[in-house]
Amino acid sequence: MTKPIQIAIDGPAAAGKSTIAKIVAEKLGYIYIDTGAMYRAITLKALQEGLNLASNEEVGELLKNTVIDLQPSENGQLVFLDQKNVTEDIRSQYVTKAVSEIAAHEAVREQMVHLQQQLAHGRGVVMDGRDIGTHVLPDAALKIFMSASVEERARRRFEENKKRNIDTPLEELQKEIAERDKLDSEREFAPLRKAEDAIFLDTTALTIEEAALAILKLTAERLK
Ligand code: CDP
Ligand code: CDP
Repeated sequence: MTKPIQIAIDGPAAAGKSTIAKIVAEKLGYIYIDTGAMYRAITLKALQEGLNLASNEEVGELLKNTVIDLQPSENGQLVFLDQKNVTEDIRSQYVTKAVSEIAAHEAVREQMVHLQQQLAHGRGVVMDGRDIGTHVLPDAALKIFMSASVEERARRRFEENKKRNIDTPLEELQKEIAERDKLDSEREFAPLRKAEDAIFLDTTALTIEEAALAILKLTAERLK
């Protein structure tokens, strides 16, 4: 059997990264790691504990005493925060609005990157986030930078929220996505950007299946 590879998928919010990464991982029999879920989990805890979100030290210390665990399940990946299932809670607007501030802290990023590298070590993995190709897995055999127009991304999040009975207006979602993209792209430590050796994949006009197939084809080339 060919040696499994590491696949890094980065890009802005609601580009389709996690949906497509999950399908690709399943087809290849690789593990899938949603690094955004990890930043969301520590954000939830910081909010619950009433921390000063602007403090690099306070949030960094909190993460040292926190266990974040990702478990695959039939209904997708489950996220545990200190043994409690927080899979749904981390998707709330309350967490979404605060996550980019928390993710900008150097102390948080250092620990997260270390943890993510440990999870991926020596395995076939599909990992999605903002800094995977640039920082977490710089030697990944395949790097994808996935994007779509901000209008399409807001529309997708709107449809997704409807299924979860969350009724944030489309205009507000578009504003929140654009703001978060700006914070993620302009932060000092490991900002969102395309790695030089990443392949750009615009999913605006692609179905989920088409995008997954494009990545599977690229993977097959790397596995040759
Ligand atoms: O699913 P969505 O695109 O809304 O976001 P996510 O992937 O769950 O990521 C939530 C936030 O976590 C992002 O907006 C970033 O601020 C942060 N993040 C990061 O800084 N680095 C990563 N590797 C993954 C996420
Ligand atoms: O992980 P990321 O935030 O980049 O995006 P996602 O959570 O995977 O995708 C956001 C929503 O867009 C999901 O509900 C997907 O089903 C949907 N989607 C789509 O409709 N068409 C695509 N080509 C990709 C994703």
